Amino acid sequence: MDVHKLVQEMTLEEKASLCSGADFWHTKAVERLGIPQMMVSDGPHGLRKQDQSADHLGINDSIKAVCFPTAAGLACSFDRELLFRVGEALGKECQAEDVGVILGPAANIKRSPLCGRNFEYFSEDPYLSGEMAAAHIRGVQSRNVGTSLKHFAVNNQETRRMSVDARVDERTQREIYLASFEGAVKGGHPWTVMCSYNRINGTYASENPRLLTGILRDEWGFDGFTVTDWGACNDHVAGVEAGLDLEMPSSGSYNDEALVRAVREARISEAAVDRAAERILTVMYRYFEGRDRTAVFDRAAHHNLARLVARESMVLLKNDGNLLPLSASRRVAFIGPFVKRPRYQGGGSSHINASEETCAMEAASEYADVIYAQGCGTKEDRTEPELLLRAVNAAQAADVAVLFVGLPDSFESEGYDRTHMRLPDCQNELIREVLKVQRRVVVVLHNGSPVEMPWADEVPAILEAYLGGQAVGGAVADLLFGKASPCGKLAETFPLRLEDNPSYLNFPGDGDTVEYREGIYVGYRYYDKRGVNVRFPFGHGLTYTTFEYANLRLDKVQMKDTETLTASVDVTNTGRVAAKEIVQFYVSPAHAGISRPVKELRGFEKVYLEPGETKTVTVELPPRAFAYYETAIADWFVEPGAYAVLAAASSADVRAQARVEIEATRRLPVHVHENTTFGDALKIPGAAEILKPFTDGIGAMLGGENSEALGESTREMAAAMLRDLPLRAAFAFAGDKADRGKLPAIVAALNDASKRAQA
Ligand code: BGC
Repeated sequence: MDVHKLVQEMTLEEKASLCSGADFWHTKAVERLGIPQMMVSDGPHGLRKQDQSADHLGINDSIKAVCFPTAAGLACSFDRELLFRVGEALGKECQAEDVGVILGPAANIKRSPLCGRNFEYFSEDPYLSGEMAAAHIRGVQSRNVGTSLKHFAVNNQETRRMSVDARVDERTQREIYLASFEGAVKGGHPWTVMCSYNRINGTYASENPRLLTGILRDEWGFDGFTVTDWGACNDHVAGVEAGLDLEMPSSGSYNDEALVRAVREARISEAAVDRAAERILTVMYRYFEGRDRTAVFDRAAHHNLARLVARESMVLLKNDGNLLPLSASRRVAFIGPFVKRPRYQGGGSSHINASEETCAMEAASEYADVIYAQGCGTKEDRTEPELLLRAVNAAQAADVAVLFVGLPDSFESEGYDRTHMRLPDCQNELIREVLKVQRRVVVVLHNGSPVEMPWADEVPAILEAYLGGQAVGGAVADLLFGKASPCGKLAETFPLRLEDNPSYLNFPGDGDTVEYREGIYVGYRYYDKRGVNVRFPFGHGLTYTTFEYANLRLDKVQMKDTETLTASVDVTNTGRVAAKEIVQFYVSPAHAGISRPVKELRGFEKVYLEPGETKTVTVELPPRAFAYYETAIADWFVEPGAYAVLAAASSADVRAQARVEIEATRRLPVHVHENTTFGDALKIPGAAEILKPFTDGIGAMLGGENSEALGESTREMAAAMLRDLPLRAAFAFAGDKADRGKLPAIVAALNDASKRAQA
């Protein structure tokens, strides 16, 4: 379809009508020109296609679909290929159901463990989040179905999500909150991007030209259409002007007419409306023309895939004395509210009407005879003495007690944030009481976000299942009984206490404002820098074997800031069972410079190793892996100096490191004025000569040729004073060697030298 031509044939009214939805889930048709509607539906970990009553909160029913693990779990797989397969399965279901765009994935960063939607988000780390989102997108779109990367941007809480103003400095936006979307856009090429509800530094995301056009399209090359989150449109005309294409859901004809009126009154150009209509039609026809009318999908196969994916995503947090895997000959008790009714997804717009469910009790029958006790209620946080007593008796009668606990639905959901990080009190009590009669305790957690674990030191084994999708029980059983070795690692830090989290003092903000005062120090970037003890660090995860890392090598020890570094490390399975290892590469600046995290994740690979097997893992580290965002040049910048490349099993378990020295091919511009410090001015090549009269004069004041006689601390003080001394203040100290009247000329000479150095 020649979409450009089609737009030329349309009336202004028709074009404007395309820029808002027909109803909850459809774009508008233009019958005169034979343009059909296109359906969109929620995801991201299953298809929530509604036939009848529509809503964006997961209240009314949708068709049956396969519910995969949610993003919080998926990210722990650190497995691009696996995410692709999930996406591909979703794409197939969409083709079979005639859904043109499945909404998601969501690349918002986990700023606080309290965000009600953390279960739908991948990580606290933008690189990992971007990689996972990109793989999901590629998978869905490989079936010629679009995705809608959401919620763009800086939407990291549910409290007042539709009005809150997130105040975040530019560097933090770029390095943390936008970087996650950047990775997803550049690596996945989503057909559409959904803007978030909130404001960012005062401007609604839905009418933010800097985000929707400047960054998304001009910088990152996005070429699809943008859509509002459901109800995020504030001023439709301002939105279209800013680069927002489709308002969802419908606003009746109100905003269509507003847009037409604005064109007629020359408040917006018709070209802006054409642009939006063309972008929307381009995506629609991409879907229509690649539509597979014969598409069917194998639901049982997708259920099996969901089981595999869950297994590959769960994280073995602790396994003292190799309590796991369980041997079938042991008497095992399964205890807890989630044994028979696992919590495997979250509440809200992503809520899937699961085609079937496997609980651990049912799945365990493949492996062993298991006794069961519920232990406590599934919904209310209230100890029920009868249930508790039966659970304690079951634990005592068994050789091992496996406790299935976690967060009930009401504890975390879209729409509101958690107010604390605890499990229900009745569950903590259950664990404590069981520990009194049984030391061999395994805790299996079903939750979308970290919880405090006051019992962690006494419980020998903990398996984090996250919200593992409809086949969760099968996956848990496979891991508990050793059919497979766990191979997930945490995509977020589990702090000891909520109060340790860097956003604690500023979450969820006051009234309609939230200040991101912790800046770039989100997640492990903060805990590392402050040396704060955590319960389980980012990147941590155990398995049933051990791995050794050796022979980390870099292809260069010295390079320019424009070059890519290749790093390799050999990893050996030194244990007795086959398993996968997630090898992480972090970059750590090893020179004094701008304030930066101790280390940042810049590469990872997951490898499968038979016992005794060794594989070499290699990653490429492009200039961006060494860069920070420098606001003075509005660009990424690599500081010259030494960097360490770390090969690590987790952010707290660095196994090898190597150094590279980076040389600058580019300098930061120094704009000199009368209050520029000597230290900064002296960075300009040739500055020492220009500033000689001042430095000589000050040198004289500081003892001149006798300065050697000064004590060490005095010399250091003198050096520091000179470094931080503004040029204009030199006159107070340089005496008659310096002439104040010459300052403007000196400033001009320094600026010339600075410009020459840039060129
Ligand atoms: C959510 C989106 C969702 C949309 C449609 C909104 O409330 O924030 O994630 O895709 O509703 O249901």
